[in-house]
Amino acid sequence: MIAAAQALVSRIGPDVPEIAIVLGSGLGALADALESPVTVPYGEVPGFPDPGVAGHQGVFVFGRLGGVPVMLQSGRFHLYEGHDPATVILPVRTFAALGAKTVIVTNAAGGIRRTFTPPVLMLIADHINLMWRSPLQGAIVGVEERFPDMSEPYDGELRSLARQTALAAGITIHEGVYAGVLGPAYETVAEIRMLERMGADAVGMSTVPEVIAARANGMRVLGISTVSNVVAGMGPGPLSHDDVLAASREVRGDLEALVRGVIQQL
Ligand code: HPA
Repeated sequence: MIAAAQALVSRIGPDVPEIAIVLGSGLGALADALESPVTVPYGEVPGFPDPGVAGHQGVFVFGRLGGVPVMLQSGRFHLYEGHDPATVILPVRTFAALGAKTVIVTNAAGGIRRTFTPPVLMLIADHINLMWRSPLQGAIVGVEERFPDMSEPYDGELRSLARQTALAAGITIHEGVYAGVLGPAYETVAEIRMLERMGADAVGMSTVPEVIAARANGMRVLGISTVSNVVAGMGPGPLSHDDVLAASREVRGDLEALVRGVIQQL
């Protein structure tokens, strides 16, 4: 991780942004909005999987959003692709090694709460880890906590800031619990009934490992889901990834405005 951070510092200089943003499915366009961008493909970062092998075109982008220095992770490693949990959190550990203080994590999710009318945005208030593994399993890395507290993984102040920003900008935002599942198959109707009873408002296949890693590194987390579809058994028909991407694109303007508003106030 230190080598990765050093390689990135040699590209961008010593002034590293304190805010990191992880872009979810269909949200990559935010990278194009950065001012004075410096793009570094994962393949040029020591310790990252060879993109040819991993089938990933992931990049870090360093720049400014509305004048505020940020670094973006565009392209995720998912557990369902067969990556180790440790690979999934490589970008977040790199942000930590670079000195990031805040991580804004975005994703696409299926809406379980019956009052959701997708596409809508949902602040993540809490999560349920149903991936059955932890990215922290194994040797302790760097200054990470062995047993990080998870009583409030999604920072209360940041959520409050996001709610105020949404209100001021006229953006509708919900708040709820995200269930992280392994995927890649979408859920069965019986699984959705189970998730609803467990208290999940939305379900997706990412984010939980990154948030655990961010907390173990002491970074503050804001999580925002684009609830792109009604989950299996509650909506009109079969789910498709293309529909998820199209729906995410519909609300990405709101998401971008929300993120811009929040980082102005950090
Ligand atoms: N289920 C799981 N993951 C998802 C969904 C869903 O319905 N939509 C977007 N990501």
